[in-house]
Amino acid sequence: MEKEILLTIKNLTVKYKTDDGIAEAVNNISFQLHKGETLGLVGETGAGKTTTGLSILRLLPERTAEITEGEIIFKGENLLDIPKNEMSVIRGKQISMIFQDPMTSLNPVYTVGSQIEESIFLHNRDLTNPQIKEKADEMLELVGITPERRDDYPHQFSGGMKQRVVIAMALACDPELVIADEPTTALDVTIQAQVLRMMDELKRKYGTSMIMITHDFGVVAKTCDTVAVVYAGEIIEYGTVQDIFEDDKHHPYTTGLFHSLPNMNQDTERLQPIEGLMPDPMALPAGCKFHTRCPHCFDKCKTVLPQDIDFNGHMIKCHLYSKEV
Ligand SMILES: Nc1ncnc2c1ncn2[C@@H]1O[C@H](COP(=O)(O)OP(=O)(O)OP(=O)(O)O)[C@@H](O)[C@H]1O
Ligand SMILES: [Mg+2]
Repeated sequence: MEKEILLTIKNLTVKYKTDDGIAEAVNNISFQLHKGETLGLVGETGAGKTTTGLSILRLLPERTAEITEGEIIFKGENLLDIPKNEMSVIRGKQISMIFQDPMTSLNPVYTVGSQIEESIFLHNRDLTNPQIKEKADEMLELVGITPERRDDYPHQFSGGMKQRVVIAMALACDPELVIADEPTTALDVTIQAQVLRMMDELKRKYGTSMIMITHDFGVVAKTCDTVAVVYAGEIIEYGTVQDIFEDDKHHPYTTGLFHSLPNMNQDTERLQPIEGLMPDPMALPAGCKFHTRCPHCFDKCKTVLPQDIDFNGHMIKCHLYSKEV
């Protein structure tokens, strides 16, 4: 059976205007997300992951950020074309975002119960007060928090519990798409595993699609169906989770990421961080953006931008794999 496509991003390009120049944060990114699946956006700090997530929700800072090219097709409609007021309805009802720091989404002066109720009310204005309360209690239970704690304030919860509350708020509107931006990075490892497991259960139960933004391949292995590896605002490798973890062919950057991760490599003495830094988005190099750090770099890499090479849907943007090397 053909899988149903929920979201298609085509050639998305985003720039930030700064006092020092134009930062090319997202460069011609394209991907598709199927209904009920999770796509991982993986890459180092500054790769453009959050910018991509914010673009989908049209939450980029209006004065400094500009989407200069591309389409974001959600259920057949280009989100970049629809009026602002319709976008805020989509944001509430169909797409929601979970941020890295739970306090971005929680207000310290209101009880967690009232905050969940508020997000339910905003999205279902016909519900009565008792119905809203009931649904809020249901959401708390769903994320493993006893409803008796509804009248507590955020500071009375641990970091992991706060993030569960945020997840409850994000799911309260039964969204079709959740964009989770490093949802467990601030949590310690055991709590991280619990929260990820819970998100996975919820996803299965409701058939929610998800974009999981992370720099952690461990999180990718646990949660994702497909993976896009992002470097300097480009997707340099894309494939199923099997392609990424089991195939021998990889972009040299992906290989470098694997070697630099302690949890992917038993022998920690042989950890090899990738040398150098990601290029400044205000001064991106010509050719392949990874050539300045690539151990396999040859002349062509310095001048010619590589195309995607397609191995049955596993895409690698690297001259090593092109036939006319
Ligand atoms: N508001 C802004 N103004 C100017 N530049 C920005 C702004 N937000 C992000 N950038 C730049 O855009 C690039 C991409 O940033 P982004 O936050 O999308 O990266 P990221 O992959 O989410 O990184 P991290 O893993 O650190 O969260 C970076 O070089 C960043 O400095
Ligand atoms: Mg980010």
